[in-house]
Amino acid sequence: MSFYYVKKSDPLCGRITVSGAKNAALPAIAATLLTDDTCTLSRIPNLSDISVMTDIVSFLGADIQNTKKGVFEITPNIKRITAPQELCGRLRASSLFMGPLLAKYKRAKIPLPGGCSIGSRPIDLHLKGFAAMGADITVSHGFVSVSAPRLSGADIYLDFPSVGATENIMMAATLADGKTVIENAAAEPEISDLAAMLRKMGAKISGAGSDKILIEGTYSLHSCNHKIIPDRIEAGTFMTAAAMTNGKITLCGVSPSHLRPFSAKLCEMGAEISEGTNEISVDCGRRMSSCSIKTLPYPGFPTDMQAQFCALLSTVPGTGIITETVFENRFLHIDELCRMGADIKTDGRSAVIRGGRLTGANVKATDLRAGAALTLAGLAASGETEVSEIEHIERGYEDFPEKLRALGANIEKNET
Ligand code: UD1
Repeated sequence: MSFYYVKKSDPLCGRITVSGAKNAALPAIAATLLTDDTCTLSRIPNLSDISVMTDIVSFLGADIQNTKKGVFEITPNIKRITAPQELCGRLRASSLFMGPLLAKYKRAKIPLPGGCSIGSRPIDLHLKGFAAMGADITVSHGFVSVSAPRLSGADIYLDFPSVGATENIMMAATLADGKTVIENAAAEPEISDLAAMLRKMGAKISGAGSDKILIEGTYSLHSCNHKIIPDRIEAGTFMTAAAMTNGKITLCGVSPSHLRPFSAKLCEMGAEISEGTNEISVDCGRRMSSCSIKTLPYPGFPTDMQAQFCALLSTVPGTGIITETVFENRFLHIDELCRMGADIKTDGRSAVIRGGRLTGANVKATDLRAGAALTLAGLAASGETEVSEIEHIERGYEDFPEKLRALGANIEKNET
């Protein structure tokens, strides 16, 4: 089994380039099924979640060429509409095949999705959207079957601005009859990126990035060439690593505006941040102090940065409160941080964190972002930390130890 061996590190310094966004690449891969043509996707990160997604596409019949790093040419050539249980069980984003298969091939059968263990994560909002567009839906033996001879555009109000439901419904609506309006839609940058790709394929979409998206259905979509946006969560994780070591780093190839929800918080805590066109510099050389955060849909503070900030607040003077409003079970990292000496009390969806000193320990990555948080904690803790179950971290961070080492961190990937 692999683990990260982390030692207390000097202030991180230097510059690195951020990878493509996992959460934009996954729906983009699903969207290629909406056409018969070949789509070329670039800046796809080399991650296990991406391999699972492309394995599912291959299973369905697609031809995938990956001749250059980060570039995938996908020709759908679909032969099956039932997605494989074992692969889908590993990845919640596998539910994103439902919209494209339903719209283009009239039906889809998908196993109820898996993913990180951070809550029950139902897909009722996806299904309500498809039902409003005229789809028949049945759930049995762990599979969801959706079918419709032709989808009709509909007015859909989401009870919660779900990222996955917005993406799935938006993809399905591109090939529906007439106009679909999604209200209380998610506004994450990954939604805008998917809409940009779909527009290149000939879809008529406006309003992506706001809470109301309009899609005018069309008969067919065509090939496209699309470069995935940079990963804002990966960038935020490195910015937090800089803060935890009082470092000074520059991240290249980013969209600074996507990082504002947490760069604003880092400024409040004492960091100096300067934004360029495609880069951001973070100087945390001064004394940092605590703050409070509440996770919210974009442009609020992202739930995917909550665990990393929890680790950061454990190391700075003062008391901060984290309130998690997006997922109901996303405090799994807290027990592990407490094993490193963190002083954190939870009450329902809130955690009160009194900053202090961390000490190295053997800890377990319970999910992707929890694993990243514990690795960062290891950089700030005295002594040595071993982070196990790092396969969770490798689902979402490309070359994580290598990039941290390039900034001067003491981290090695070892085998037991
Ligand atoms: C996506 C991201 C994930 C991020 C999350 C919130 C991908 C591949 N993953 O996940 O990293 O943490 O957005 O920013 O893009 N919900 C329902 N019913 C539904 C759908 C969602 O109740 O049908 C609930 C979920 O249980 C959760 C909340 O809505 O509590 C947010 O989920 P959602 O926005 O759908 O997240 P994902 O798309 O799964």
